[in-house]
Amino acid sequence: MSPFLLTRTLPVDATDAALRADVLHGLTRHPKTLPPKWFYDAHGSELFEEITRLPEYYPTRAEREILVARAPEIAAASGAKTLIELGSGSSEKTRHLLDALPGLHSYVPVDVSESALRGAADALLVERPDLSVHALIADFTGELVLPDTPGPRLVAFLGGTIGNLLPDERAVFLKSVRSLLSPGDALLLGTDLVKDEKVLVAAYDDAAGVTAAFNKNVLTVVDRELGADFDPADFDHVALWDRRQEWIEMRLQARRALTVKIPGLDLVVPFEAGEGLRTEVSAKFRKEGIRGELAAAGLRLSQWWTDSADRFALSLATAV
Ligand code: AVJ
Repeated sequence: MSPFLLTRTLPVDATDAALRADVLHGLTRHPKTLPPKWFYDAHGSELFEEITRLPEYYPTRAEREILVARAPEIAAASGAKTLIELGSGSSEKTRHLLDALPGLHSYVPVDVSESALRGAADALLVERPDLSVHALIADFTGELVLPDTPGPRLVAFLGGTIGNLLPDERAVFLKSVRSLLSPGDALLLGTDLVKDEKVLVAAYDDAAGVTAAFNKNVLTVVDRELGADFDPADFDHVALWDRRQEWIEMRLQARRALTVKIPGLDLVVPFEAGEGLRTEVSAKFRKEGIRGELAAAGLRLSQWWTDSADRFALSLATAV
């Protein structure tokens, strides 16, 4: 059996400290915000899995279509000996890539969830006992220290999650990814594309209300972790398209004037009737925009693949 190594680069209490800082910062400014990473406790992660199966939520299926069709080309172009996956979760989609990379030496999944990393590695090592899996418990927006594994390296950041970052955060993130790569190494990036507003809004405001439940779950997380008394029934789920920024914004909108107590922070937060709390930005992209953002970070767009309906793109970029 090949090695499975797990390295924790996040202190065990880092999550708690980060949540406290984010809630304090986000709920005492105007407009109020909370970062989307707090959706994903066990229940939120289940709700997200359910979202990926909704008829309106096309990105997961569109990306899988591209991966299945292009895995051999991605593998040939990168020649990767080490695959690093940021925000790997269950590593389900990565399976297609791994299958196309028979010469792969090491897989480095990076996620904040230790249980997701262990589960993914267990499943993977059954199929690929030859592979050395070195999982990192880490926040991919922070500085990463990668294990010493053979190159070339391929960093994969799939799902369109880069769209959760604001433009200046993306610039910082892409530069930090570039710093992990040597010339010739590559980045495989999944991005959702700008399209008809109705299609976009429906993907974030589905008829079955799963996305609404996912959005409101962040309030449950703050209630549980910080002793707050948010009542999810006091808020409406809102998804809107910002045509200037070209992003979908999810909000929780107070149905009436109310105050929320957060004893864990010694904080009382007033909401006006109709006031919005922004919980997520999900940016949508165009090819030339991606090319420019990559170039600014020292990455050259070398391949661009979309699904048959041009909804989603996978970019392959090489370090220059
Ligand atoms: C996991 C960040 C790619 O932005 O589409 C799904 C999260 N939010 N429905 C996205 C999400 C609402 C998703 N990402």
